[in-house]
This record gives sequence, C-alpha cells and structure tokens, in this order.
Amino acid sequence: METRRQFLKTSATVLAAGVTSSTWGNTLLNFQGNGANDKIRVGLIGCRNMGWANLSDFLLHKDVECIALCDIDRNILNEKAAELEKTTQRKPQLFSDYRRMLEIKELDVVIIGTPDHWHCLQFTDACSAGKDVYVEKPIANYIAECDAMVNAARRYGRVAIVGQQQRSGNHWKAMVDYLKSGKLGTIASADIWANFNYGALSLPVPNTAVPEGVDYDMWQGPAQERPFNKQHFHGSWRMFWAYGGGLMTDWGVHLLDMVLWGMDIKRMPQRIVGLGGKFAYPENCPETFDTQKVVYEFDSFLMSWSHVGGTETGPYNRNYGIAFKGTNGTLVANRDNWEIIPEWDNAKKLNKAEVIKVEADFQDHKDHVSNFLECMKNRHFETACTIENGSLCAKYAHLGNIAARTGSALVYDDFNQCFINNAEADKYLRPSYRSPWKFPNT
Ligand SMILES: NC(=O)c1ccc[n+]([C@@H]2O[C@H](COP(=O)([O-])OP(=O)(O)OC[C@H]3O[C@@H](n4cnc5c(N)ncnc54)[C@H](O)[C@@H]3O)[C@@H](O)[C@H]2O)c1
Repeated sequence: METRRQFLKTSATVLAAGVTSSTWGNTLLNFQGNGANDKIRVGLIGCRNMGWANLSDFLLHKDVECIALCDIDRNILNEKAAELEKTTQRKPQLFSDYRRMLEIKELDVVIIGTPDHWHCLQFTDACSAGKDVYVEKPIANYIAECDAMVNAARRYGRVAIVGQQQRSGNHWKAMVDYLKSGKLGTIASADIWANFNYGALSLPVPNTAVPEGVDYDMWQGPAQERPFNKQHFHGSWRMFWAYGGGLMTDWGVHLLDMVLWGMDIKRMPQRIVGLGGKFAYPENCPETFDTQKVVYEFDSFLMSWSHVGGTETGPYNRNYGIAFKGTNGTLVANRDNWEIIPEWDNAKKLNKAEVIKVEADFQDHKDHVSNFLECMKNRHFETACTIENGSLCAKYAHLGNIAARTGSALVYDDFNQCFINNAEADKYLRPSYRSPWKFPNT
C-alpha cells in the first residue's frame, strides 16, 4: 500500500508537472506492477531495428523481464524470440496482432518500435489498456495524431516517454545550460541540417508478391491500401508519405527538439515557410523530398532546416548538426560533441566567447531508458522526453513538410487545430484511416 510520504511525493511531482488529478484520472499510485512479483513486465511491438535496440537497454535492468513480442513479420518474430530466449532463458509469448498482446493483464509497459503510421493507434490503445509506453519518434505521422496521443496519456494517467534520447544526453544537457547562460550573446538564429544517403534511397523496383510470413495487411494498418513493394517496406518506409515524412521528420524531430529545448520554445512559430523537391535524384523511388529547406519565424529569432538526401557532407565538416548563431560566437552541435567558435572583438583584441569543446559520452540511450523505468516506478509523469515534448517537435517537423508540400507560408493555430486561411494545408493535418481502423477518440 502507498505510504503517506510516497503519496506526498507523487502529488508534488504531479503539481510540478502542471497537471491536476482530474486531468490524469485516478491512477496516480506508485508503481505496483500488474504482475504477481515486483518485476516490470515489458512487451515489444515492432521488433526489427529500433524496437529491438530499445528492448536491449530495458533488459540491462535486473527488475525488467520481457514477456511478449509482437511483429507482423513471422521471420523477424521467430528470430528475435530465439535471441531473447538465448539471453534470458525465458520464452516470450508471441503475437502478430498487438491488440491481443495488450490483453495480457500482467503486462506493465509496451515499447512501440513500429513505422510512424502505426504509433498513434498503438499508443492510444496501449494507454487505454492501462499500459505505460515507450514510443518511438516521431510520435506520429500527422499533427492531429499528436494531439490524440497527448490526450490519451493524460486521460488514462500513463507514464510515457518518446525515443528522442538526446534529451538524456549529458553533452546535450550541458549545451542547453550553456545556451541559457547568455554567454553566446543574443542568439538570432539556429540552422539545422541533416544530409544522409538513405534520404534518396534508390531507383524504383517492381511490386512483388508479399513475402512468406508477412501479414502485409497488418503492416499497412490505417494507411491506404497499396500493392507490396520492398522499397516501401522494412526500414525504407520513411520516404513514403503514408508511413513517414522523409528526413524532415526522421532526423527533424531529433534536431528540432534540441533547438526548441535550448531556446525554451514551447509554442508554435509565428510563421513557417518551406520549399522542397526531388532535385538530387529525381528518378529514385522516394515520394518525400530529397532536397528541402524550411524557415520557422519567431519574434526575434529564426530557425532553419535543410537537407539534401543522397549526400553525406555538410557545414562545419559535419553531415548533420545545428549551428546556433549568437552575437558572441557560434555553437555547433551534433551527437558527437558541441563546440564554440567565438566572434572576434577587434577593439579589445580578444575572443567574445571562450573556445570550448564538449564531447558526448554516448550513454544517452541507456540513461533515457533508466529515466523512464524510474519514472514508471514512482508514477512520475515528467519523463526525460514527455509525450508533450515529442508532440511539439513532431508538429514542427510536419509543419515543415506541409509548408513544402503546399509551397506556402503557413500560420498554424494549435489551439483550434487549423491553419489560418489555408484550406489546402488543412488537408494534411488529419489522416483518413483505412477501414476498419478508426481515428482514436481520446
Ligand atoms: N530513436 C532513434 O534514434 C531511432 C532510430 C531509428 C528508428 N527510430 C524509430 O523507430 C521506429 C521504427 O523504425 P525502424 O527503423 O526500427 O523500422 P523497421 O521497419 O526496421 O522496423 C519496424 C518493425 O515493426 C514491425 N511492424 C510493422 N507494423 C507492425 C504492426 N502493426 N504490429 C507489429 N509490428 C509491426 C515490422 O515488421 C518491423 O519489424 C520508427 O518510428 C523510427 O522513426 C528511432
């Protein structure tokens, strides 16, 4: 039973998070688990790449056990089940339909490692089934889905974290502290770039029969029906609008999030201007832009995004990164490190900022998972990357795509969930789910 001290701790946490017990339902108890022992019982939905990487870091914790795996590809499911059994000496229950997995009463938490078009339904269903959730980024493939997911986590009182592990990175935290110190002077702009070869994929190949062991209907889920083609399947679905948003969302959420965090931006920009096209590899198969530029306007600050898929070089000798431009210097950052390139004060004959370089320790992902498990145990909702954090930067990334797809300057009214005077852009806000899937009512 919960002690008074624990209750006060939980209440303080919830108040600090700015939410009331009525918005979070009646589930503000310390973690007791759904199972018979004190272990945290996890189930993984989507086992191939990142989902498996997430589960691996969960299993570093002695009080975690994986009791279920779910995948629509039986080949992957069997391979991962065998690997899991070898390392943990435990046979997980296997599923191809995540809804059956969510029926397991003892299951405490699910990891969602599926393609982006599935996140919203699986997340909202997991919340309503009383499970906590580690959901991969971008949290959703549409802006309206982001809102539905935030509502579901609140309504069902679930602890959730988004797989934007940079939020747990020590060098990123040090960068945010530096930005807040004022040492960079007035920060007028932040430029983000992400150039990756996989952004251009390859030349198209013909459709084929669905591979043996794959439930392709369940892979497509709420997305519109389309014949099987291996180029929009495992891994490369990112470059097709029905399943992902190209480099803009795939890398955008990671890097936009660092600027929003560093600059303490919690709202929509005043305006978004974007352009994009298939300019570098026009014959290749992606639907998403291989080349794209977006500018987000604020009161006295501009943030820009740019990528050229099919290339892997970039400014400051980095193929991806962020450059914060301050009046005293430029802060350049990526997952490896960050550094200050000072401006020169010609009158005083000295640098306006100290030359600094801070290296990454590459513990961010492990720390992210540890933070989530701690939050679960303490029913602490302010995880290292909350569903609200994930929602904000996913919206920014989708706004960049909608601006480029409509070729217009956009103003987004987040409260009323529409663009100002732009019915064409409004069409990109909310998906029309393929029957029998229904947009979640949260
Ligand atoms: N945080 C990070 O650094 C990071 C890195 C890579 C990928 N990701 C994210 O992880 C997610 C997955 O990406 P990936 O590269 O692992 O994709 P992937 O295509 O390699 O793997 C997705 C897996 O989900 C399975 N799947 C698809 N629909 C399913 C369903 N309805 N039920 C159960 N399983 C289903 C597929 O069969 C496959 O095994 C994406 O949202 C991606 O953006 C995050």
